[in-house]
Amino acid sequence: MRKPLVAGNWKMNLNHLEAIAHVQRLAFSLKDADFDALDVCVFPPFTDIRSVQTLVDADKLRITYGGQDCAKMDSGAFTGQTSSTFLAKLGAQWVIIGHSERRQFNNESNDDVSKKLVSALRNKLTPILCVGEDLTERNNRTHIRFTLNQLGQSLGNISKSDVSQIVIAYEPVWAIGTGEIATPEDAEEMMSALRNWLGETYGDSAASKVRLLYGGSVKSGTAPGLMAMPNVDGLLVGGASIDPDEFVAICRYRLALVGPRK
Ligand code: 13P
Repeated sequence: MRKPLVAGNWKMNLNHLEAIAHVQRLAFSLKDADFDALDVCVFPPFTDIRSVQTLVDADKLRITYGGQDCAKMDSGAFTGQTSSTFLAKLGAQWVIIGHSERRQFNNESNDDVSKKLVSALRNKLTPILCVGEDLTERNNRTHIRFTLNQLGQSLGNISKSDVSQIVIAYEPVWAIGTGEIATPEDAEEMMSALRNWLGETYGDSAASKVRLLYGGSVKSGTAPGLMAMPNVDGLLVGGASIDPDEFVAICRYRLALVGPRK
């Protein structure tokens, strides 16, 4: 019932000309059968989004796109920020909120994240809320408590009816850009804890609708094992999403799965 979602977070890579070439290659390789089986979205830098929109609209592509962050406010004197309102106007469907790189390099708190979630929902964008522990918590075996606490504080301002609109990405900080990857069992342990917590907090019906993504050093070779886990509904891919062939191979994870899934 939860359609799988594969998302490519380009981070600060690919200028707008490279973005056009990249999306054209994805559009050439991905077929209707792929889009019927899963949602595919890309997160280009803000400067690329208008170019991506023009291409997607002109060729009626089924690839969707979003912003890598948004402001808390819709407009005003906030130099350098980009609002959800503007992203929505550019046809964006998604926005990543609370990525660990923004928490680390821009000092974003759970309170900031919570306000950005409200802004995204107000503008009818689907937020992808990122949570996840660093290596110290993992080594201390406090990773579940830490991540649930981060989730609870980030969702502070979100109503029960809005929770099922949100996608949650579990991105352990120690696995991002490091080549170290959570095992499918590690990912499932966290995903089932997240879903149980959502169920206890917002009810089972809302919890069963929320898509949970894994992110952190995902490659085409590791995607099928992760996606075979019952509570892993998709992948948030960083470095490997910059290579169109690799990203397409990740989107085709289902060809490597044995037996029925979802
Ligand atoms: P990598 O896939 O490069 O580890 O990045 C993951 C990530 O941060 C996606 O948002």
